Amino acid sequence: MTPTSARVRVPRFVQLHQDDDAAVRAELARGLLAHAAFTHPKYLYDALGSRLFEAITELPEYYPTRTEAAIFAQHGADMAALLPQGLTLVDLGAGNCEKAARLFDVLRPASYVAVDISVAFLRGALAALQRQYPGLDMLGVGLDFSSQLALPPEAGEGQRLLFYPGSSIGNFSPADALLFLRQARQAAPAGGLLIGVDLLKPITLLEPAYDDALGVTAAFNRNMLLHINRLLGSDFEVAQWRHRACYNAEVARIEMHLEAVQALMVHWPGAQRHFAAGERIHTENSYKYTPPQFEALLREAGFSQVTQWRDARDWFAVFLAHD
Ligand code: AVI
Repeated sequence: MTPTSARVRVPRFVQLHQDDDAAVRAELARGLLAHAAFTHPKYLYDALGSRLFEAITELPEYYPTRTEAAIFAQHGADMAALLPQGLTLVDLGAGNCEKAARLFDVLRPASYVAVDISVAFLRGALAALQRQYPGLDMLGVGLDFSSQLALPPEAGEGQRLLFYPGSSIGNFSPADALLFLRQARQAAPAGGLLIGVDLLKPITLLEPAYDDALGVTAAFNRNMLLHINRLLGSDFEVAQWRHRACYNAEVARIEMHLEAVQALMVHWPGAQRHFAAGERIHTENSYKYTPPQFEALLREAGFSQVTQWRDARDWFAVFLAHD
C-alpha cells in the first residue's frame, strides 16, 4: 500500500466549440472576394505559423516580447502584492505557456488554466509544466475566444486572474477590444486582468518590428496562404505574393498585407478571384496605444482599479485592472 497519497496531478483538457469546416471556408471566401480583400489574423497560426511567431519574438527588431518580459521580471512582485492569494491564473492564448509559467513563483496561483484555439497546441506544454509544478492544478481549454470569451465551468468559479500578455489586444480593433475587455471583466468578477499593451512610438521603430531584415515576419505572413490553401482548397502560390507592413498613423496601427507581385488568378471550389499586380490582401492590424488611451478603455469596460508598469523607454505597458 502507498503511504498517505501525495496526489500526483495530471493536466485535464476540454475542447469547446470549434468552427466547422464549412463556416471556415465561408468566412475565408467572404474576405477574399471582398473588394478590398482581407483575412482574419487567426489564419496566421497553423503549426508552422505558430513556430514562425515564436521565431519573431526572438528577432532584434521585434521588441514587444522581451520588453514585456523585462517589465514582469522587474515588477512581478509589485503586481503579486496587489492580488489575492490562491488565484486561478487563466492564460489567454497560452501557446507554449512560457510567459505564464515565469509568473508562477511570484503569483503562486492555486490553479492554472491555459486557453488556446486548440487543445492540441497545449498538451505537450502542459505535460512538461506539470512535471515542474506537480502540485499545481492544470487545465487546458481549446477555445476561440476572439469572438466570445466564455470560460467552461471546469475553469473553476474561484478568483480568476485573466492573463493576456504580448499585446494581442492590439490585434483587435479598438471597438472589439472594448467588447473583449468587458467580457474579461465579467469572466473574472472577483479577480482581475493582467494585460500587456504595445505603446505608440516612432515609425522608425514600429515598421522594422513588422518587416525584419531576416524575413521571418514575411514568412509568417506568406505562410498564411499555405494555411488557406489547406482550409479552402485554394491554389495560392506563395512566390506570387510579397509581404508588406506599414504604419497607418491615422488609426495608430501597423497593417500587414500580402501584395500580388503580378496579375494572377486564385481558384477554389465554387469561386475564383483575379488580383491585379500590386493588389493586396489585408491580413492583420496591430493597434498601438498611449497609456492614457488604454487606461480609458479599461475604465470604459468597467474596471475601476487600474495600475500600470512601463519600461524605461515607454515602449510597452502592463496593466492590472480589477474592481
Ligand atoms: C500576436 N500579436 C500581438 C503580434 C503583433 O505584434 O501584433 C503578431 C505579429 N504580427 C507580426 N508580427 C507579430
